[in-house]
Amino acid sequence: MGIVFNSEKRVFKLDSANASYLCGVADEEGFLGHIYFGKKVPDTDLTYLLRINEPPFVPSQNNRERLSFYDTFPMEYPTAGIGDYRESCLRIRTKSGHEVCHLLYESHEIRQGKEALPGLPATFGTQEECSTLKITMADKAAGLKVILSYTVFEKLDVIARSVKIVNASDDDITLTRALSVCLELDGTDYDILSLHGSWSRERRIQRHAVRLGTYSTGSVRGESSHQEHPFLAVTSKDATEDMGEVYGLNFVYSGNFTAQVQGTQFDNTRVTMGIHPDHFSWLLTPGQEFQTPEVIMVYSCEGIGGMTRTFHDLYRNHLIRSPYKNKKRPILINNWEATYFDFNTEKLLSIAKEASKLGIEMLVMDDGWFGKRNLDNCALGDWTVNEEKLPGGLKRLVDEVNKLGMKFGIWFEPEMISPDSDLYRAHPDWAIQVPGKTPTMGREQYVLDFSRREILDYVYESVAKVLRSANIEYVKWDMNRSLSDLGSFGLSPERQSEFSHRYVLGLYEIQERLIQEFPNLLLENCSGGGARFDAGMLFYSPQIWCSDNMDAVERLTIQQGTAMVYPLSAMGAHVSDCPNHVVGRNTPFETRGYVALAGTFGYELDVTKISEEDRDLIPEQVAMYHKYNDLVRTGDYYRIAGYGENHLYDAYMVVAKDKKEALVTYIQVLARPNYHSRRIRLKGLSENLNYRIEETGQILSGSTLMNAGIQIENLQGDFKGKLIHVLAE
Ligand code: DGJ
Repeated sequence: MGIVFNSEKRVFKLDSANASYLCGVADEEGFLGHIYFGKKVPDTDLTYLLRINEPPFVPSQNNRERLSFYDTFPMEYPTAGIGDYRESCLRIRTKSGHEVCHLLYESHEIRQGKEALPGLPATFGTQEECSTLKITMADKAAGLKVILSYTVFEKLDVIARSVKIVNASDDDITLTRALSVCLELDGTDYDILSLHGSWSRERRIQRHAVRLGTYSTGSVRGESSHQEHPFLAVTSKDATEDMGEVYGLNFVYSGNFTAQVQGTQFDNTRVTMGIHPDHFSWLLTPGQEFQTPEVIMVYSCEGIGGMTRTFHDLYRNHLIRSPYKNKKRPILINNWEATYFDFNTEKLLSIAKEASKLGIEMLVMDDGWFGKRNLDNCALGDWTVNEEKLPGGLKRLVDEVNKLGMKFGIWFEPEMISPDSDLYRAHPDWAIQVPGKTPTMGREQYVLDFSRREILDYVYESVAKVLRSANIEYVKWDMNRSLSDLGSFGLSPERQSEFSHRYVLGLYEIQERLIQEFPNLLLENCSGGGARFDAGMLFYSPQIWCSDNMDAVERLTIQQGTAMVYPLSAMGAHVSDCPNHVVGRNTPFETRGYVALAGTFGYELDVTKISEEDRDLIPEQVAMYHKYNDLVRTGDYYRIAGYGENHLYDAYMVVAKDKKEALVTYIQVLARPNYHSRRIRLKGLSENLNYRIEETGQILSGSTLMNAGIQIENLQGDFKGKLIHVLAE
């Protein structure tokens, strides 16, 4: 069992392979303090770290300075209003209008395994793989119970945390802030790693020092967003890819979030994460409870790369549920950049015919197949096939595609409604809006009110009806604008601020229904590219579209940032045509293939129109995908060099779990005048095995490959790439 309770000292200790997490009850009053999170230690009595014997400290011994205690003590779950003036996790408003919340330890339980979180995505594990501690805290005066839940994945150095808040009083209580996690670290000598971006520039890595005051990132867009990301890591100053301590936190949630790192007056660092308190409140009537989404905390003493590999293993084995999670995905061809809205059955079939000859396995029909949608300004919500474009309907097209030996997939944007749609004309109140105000349009569309049961049911049936009508094996679920004008005709005034979270719960519910009715469906989430690439969505779909930017160079940075947390098996990546539709750059077709190989792999171009030279390369790329995908999908990922940092080249590798095989991807982004070759050192191999470099036949020990490295010749030109495949002898 990875959890022990030292009953004499009232200390909880959670152990995994390399890490220990300790928190404890500080005194008879019941303050719960954070004691330690870091490299594994054997002792349970580390209460001296709480400094309770350093007077004047514990209120029971020094009540006169109670306020100082509140403002100093490393609270396990800090609350607002009592005198802890740092960032808090919980703020309430009682019937009388007061905001003070004072939580003290009441009881706890420890058990094997992990319970699901109702209505929310969450990691899972068997009784052998994980154990859970639940600590019940109470504010007796307010009649509030708060259950802090910690699941330790014993082999993975992971702790999954969430909180349940129960109104045990006879009056209403409103939550105005309900975060999932607080982590107190000793000292401020740390760096923060976070991910930021924009449309077509998702998840760029940022690193900077922890300072006094609060660093804050978050989203209030109703989705995790292109701009910010529900992840941050606090690292030791000396942390590199391969060394140093790293605490990674990732929110398993797809809506508004906040993540904060606060350097405090006494040189401690407080990290908090959870649902963004803006546009949030939750009314709990007597007996009702609120469950926060979970935060995954990863500890690594093997640098940033160690953290990454732990997240990958956790998500591949304990979050993604799809039957596809351990399978090679069909190589798809998507018609978006090939045709945009200008397509019909004939055109799609001509693409499919050519694609099937080249070894491509699935045709995906993107936006524009329904209602009167010939542009992006109408018809969202009208999920009936446009028979002018697809005469004979969907079934005819799908059957023809199937006859070619290909699977068929389809695009939807179920959360949206165009003002110019039959659905809007029938139900203008279904769009999110504030009465009396014209809602703000984005891409000429509004967002449907997913907090309302009848709308969820209607949307579900519209999508499911299409899926039932033909042999559709893949769905791309898109979402092309953020939420605004928050308001629902289904909510009472005192519940309007529940809308953002209720929207996300509605989204989760409808996707859950979808995968229950269509268990073999391959679902790919997408949001204008990668605005909702988060752990929450991975619970429903094994892959997520990474970015609308398929330029091979830009993708290196986008995929590096994404892979900081999420497994390569989940990253939607395609080869598109050049000049690239977003940045206008020309890169070799081979390089685009190497870069897309680090994700799910597919094509997004008109295969009937590209040059013969490029087309001839597709069968080779298809073979390359089949040769390497098992390794890429299941192996350990190591970053060697990032083009984002050195502005010259990029290199990463994937090593099989048994260390018998590895694949290095090297991209020479910019040719450098007057240079011959470049040395790179491989990672993650076995020191004691000999490896053959497939391309040259050279045999070298793992130790040599990792310490002395290999020389990569000048590839003569910009944007050139190569793969290096090494196999144990
Ligand atoms: C945004 C997606 O990211 C694209 O791939 C494409 O599906 C368009 N939406 C369609 O509107």
